[in-house]
Amino acid sequence: MGIEMDRRQWLKTGALAAGGLLTGFSGSGCRDTSEAQGMLGHLPSDRSVVRLKSNESPYGLSPSAQEAAKNALALSHLYPHSHYAELKSMIAEREGLTPEHIILGAGSTEILVMLIQLYGLQGEALAADPTYFDFVDYAEKANCFLRLVPLDGNFVHDLPAMEKEINPRTSLVYICNPTNPTGTIVAQDRLRSFCERVAPKALVMVDEAYHEYVEAELYGTMLPLVKQGVNIVVTRTFSKIFGMAGLRVGYGVAAPETIRHLRRIQRNFATLAFPSLQAAVASYTDLEFQADVFRKNIEAKRYLCRELERKGLFYIPSQTNFILFQIDQDARDTVKAFEAQGVLLRGFPFRDKNWIRVSIGTQTEMERFVSVLNHVV
Ligand SMILES: Cc1ncc(COP(=O)(O)O)c(C=O)c1O
Repeated sequence: MGIEMDRRQWLKTGALAAGGLLTGFSGSGCRDTSEAQGMLGHLPSDRSVVRLKSNESPYGLSPSAQEAAKNALALSHLYPHSHYAELKSMIAEREGLTPEHIILGAGSTEILVMLIQLYGLQGEALAADPTYFDFVDYAEKANCFLRLVPLDGNFVHDLPAMEKEINPRTSLVYICNPTNPTGTIVAQDRLRSFCERVAPKALVMVDEAYHEYVEAELYGTMLPLVKQGVNIVVTRTFSKIFGMAGLRVGYGVAAPETIRHLRRIQRNFATLAFPSLQAAVASYTDLEFQADVFRKNIEAKRYLCRELERKGLFYIPSQTNFILFQIDQDARDTVKAFEAQGVLLRGFPFRDKNWIRVSIGTQTEMERFVSVLNHVV
């Protein structure tokens, strides 16, 4: 059985405790509410602090993207909307689609929020528990009724259970693949047939924010389904492997009709800054840089997994740039202890256990994390 909730229900029943969401899981995603509220004061520029809490890339922008953004500053007195076409065409060409299949947003978050507003509010939304916390958060802010279905025993989306929860009111189904916060994937063939069966009943959003990090052969993007005309939206971002979280560029891919609907409610004719657009264009073509970040992420992740194993800590094998592992002590206190040592993490209880999510940093950052881990845990 799924967990049904809107904000008032959550507060009344405490149902979210089952998924850990009301109990200190202050966000599995990128949005750092504590910083937004001025509570932490760790500026991204503070080099003494190791930020392993928001799944940012420690390698930053590619040199070509930095150059492109710098050059774009000279033309930043002009509105950028005519330049949207270039990025959209590049994405369309690589994916075998048309620019009409693509919408750009200030991060994939902008598209996610529009989907909740446009489709979630038509009925109700369905997602896994836990899932990318900001999806839950935005659904809550939009007053969108949300039905949550626990991940299965392997911390993977339980597609059969989710399908059972679909009812005539379901208007939006959110699948994060690979998923945050567990880093697991749903196999391509299983997700494809799920989408084909479910999409005639409700729009399926497949969030592929971590797509570029995946190694598993079982995985596959759902973009080909857009080509086949299946009613889904795939979202991607430049915030992760491209290292552009601060520049805010993401995109959604869907049928032209769905894109037209989204464009109608996009809050502005141009939400992207010109330097961001130009950096994205340069990053998208810099395949060598992307391959280098991919390889470094795998190496640092392997090192981390070996260290967790050596300490006997249970972790969930991840296809992303973060790892979720279990500890036998209070997660929030542990996060605080790490923070006191200048290492920022996420911690939350889930299924009656304490978990820490650590982003994969550089090798040096992971070594620092491990040395603190050896003291704190
Ligand atoms: C699953 C998932 N989707 C979307 C996002 C948001 O990405 P963006 O920076 O493109 O808004 C994140 C960020 O952490 C994420 O983890």
